[in-house]
Amino acid sequence: MGADTLEERLERLARVRLACLPTPLCDAPRLSEELGVPIWLKRDDLTGIGLGGTKVRALELILGDGLARGCDVLVTGSGPHSNWSMLAALSARRCEMASVLCFYGNRPSDETGNLRLVQGFTGATVRFSGDLARTSVDALIEEVAAELEGRSHRPLVLPRGGAVALGSVGFYLGAREIREQADRVGLQAPGVWLATGSCGTQAGVVLATATGELDRVVGVSVSRPVAECAKRVHDLATAASGLLQLPAPDLGSVDVRDGWIGPGYGISSDEGQAAAALVARTEGVLLDPCFGAKAMAALVESVRTGQEKGPVVFLVSGGAPTLFAKDIAL
Ligand SMILES: Cc1ncc(COP(=O)(O)O)c(C=O)c1O
Repeated sequence: MGADTLEERLERLARVRLACLPTPLCDAPRLSEELGVPIWLKRDDLTGIGLGGTKVRALELILGDGLARGCDVLVTGSGPHSNWSMLAALSARRCEMASVLCFYGNRPSDETGNLRLVQGFTGATVRFSGDLARTSVDALIEEVAAELEGRSHRPLVLPRGGAVALGSVGFYLGAREIREQADRVGLQAPGVWLATGSCGTQAGVVLATATGELDRVVGVSVSRPVAECAKRVHDLATAASGLLQLPAPDLGSVDVRDGWIGPGYGISSDEGQAAAALVARTEGVLLDPCFGAKAMAALVESVRTGQEKGPVVFLVSGGAPTLFAKDIAL
């Protein structure tokens, strides 16, 4: 019997269908004219769960695997306005799985943005660490998982941001979707630009460069030092490549840009807000302040300094609820 193909391996993955796919790849004529290079927008803000977002691609596989293993409660966390946590809890609920969300700090007096959606629609149990350090969430997740196991539950435990290899396989599928759409509209060797936080998204797209399906990907760090990002992206992409028996990427091929975090992770920056205003004015598309806006600011500068010559596919990765958050804390 011959070896199985990649398509067969992908077909065998347990997956719950959550997203409306493919999301549109739209040209951005007025933005392209203003910047002088062809820009296309990959509209993952339109994945169709909650207010959208790329993370739904990861959740399709993560929840599919969890359900196949008999897990009955999802446990994850981050800051109270995390896009990831809200989407994870909402998607779990759609699969009839309960969830516990662990947030750092104390319950804010004002419940806006994602926290409002978590409270109103996900049915999640919310726990606060009482400690302002973001890393305090990691210990709380473990504590909650142990409590649940003690009560004979089978928790599906996921780290902050959902950065696990299986999730990156979901983002790899998204990268293949970009490849197909780019081919259909005749885009030659587009550079894929995206925001990088917990690094799972970039890892999935990097995997598509290792297979030769995409030419280049540029991640813009909105949270961590670039060396840490590059290592995390490489580790996750390598682990994802192992799951699919694909070639692993070189660390040297991981391109993460520095200098765009602004005042801090989860806090809007002046450059980011200017870039978001440009995209709203030219294309009527809204970028979230913590990820998309900052990545777009980096792209605008790269184009204006003549480094990025296009064509570019910019990933609009979601985060709409944070447009309505009073004090964003991811
Ligand atoms: C809207 C949005 N865009 C981009 C990202 C970054 O993705 P990753 O954490 O996989 O690097 C996130 C992460 O939470 C996000 O919420």
